[in-house]
Amino acid sequence: MSKNSPQAEVKSKKEKVKNMARYFTFAFLLFTSSLVTGCRYDMQDQPRYKALKKNDFFKDGRAMRDLPAGTVSRGNLREDKAFYTGKRENTGGAASAPAQMTMDASGNMVVASFPDAIEEFPVPVTEELINRGEERYKVFCIVCHGPVGNGDGMIVRRGFPKPPTYNDDRLRNAPVGHFYDVITNGWGKMNSYASQVPVADRWAIVAYIRTLQISQNPNGNIKMTSSNSANTANTAANTALTATPALPNANKQGSAR
Ligand code: HEC
Repeated sequence: MSKNSPQAEVKSKKEKVKNMARYFTFAFLLFTSSLVTGCRYDMQDQPRYKALKKNDFFKDGRAMRDLPAGTVSRGNLREDKAFYTGKRENTGGAASAPAQMTMDASGNMVVASFPDAIEEFPVPVTEELINRGEERYKVFCIVCHGPVGNGDGMIVRRGFPKPPTYNDDRLRNAPVGHFYDVITNGWGKMNSYASQVPVADRWAIVAYIRTLQISQNPNGNIKMTSSNSANTANTAANTALTATPALPNANKQGSAR
């Protein structure tokens, strides 16, 4: 090991002092920055009331407040009652007449009159509407109701409760509003399809069900009339229908791999 010159020794001492100073600066910065993070207020920690929790601030002791009367969220005005509910105007929510019951082929009591339901389609009945309805029916309904609506879909053949046929007098005479209501709110053992099927598509499916009924009873007196050929909601609905892009062809996609 070679002995260092005095100049070199002084230099290395200076170096050491410099290094120490760096070390302390670093430690100081680390310490102060830890203080700074300690004071941070994260958004998720801000003071707030939890939904459905008790709260002393309000007289009624609830943290959640009622929406001001008449509040409508953007895009949910739903003024066109017939289009959005399938029900008549001015029934005030209560049925205008008590529903009649009847016995079906399998001996079940079923509802046979639908006093609040609208009789005519609130959208123009067009070929596109029916085609769209066919496509949606085959996605959502055919599995139980079967290809022509006789209630013999694959799930029913595997044991699910059999739905009534669309092709008897009771459902042939049922107003279109009833079919819309069944899709929207469910019916007996059948679930609501409101979350899967948008409003305009529900009318398309109803138009297809009527088409199926006519196909099974061509000489009957089944009509598909529309009460409205153009109002704003309907135009929007039809634009949405025609603007829906065609589904990608599954076979083509498969062969591309
Ligand atoms: C999982 C099986 C299933 C699917 C899918 C299904 N339904 Fe049903 N549907 C039923 C059953 C079961 C009933 C009988 C319910 C009852 O009376 O308790 C029924 C009843 C009905 C009725 C008759 C209501 C009445 O007045 O008796 C209509 C109309 C109807 N469904 C329409 C539809 C439409 C439209 C779709 C597709 C959007 C659909 N269903 C999808 C099982 C299904």
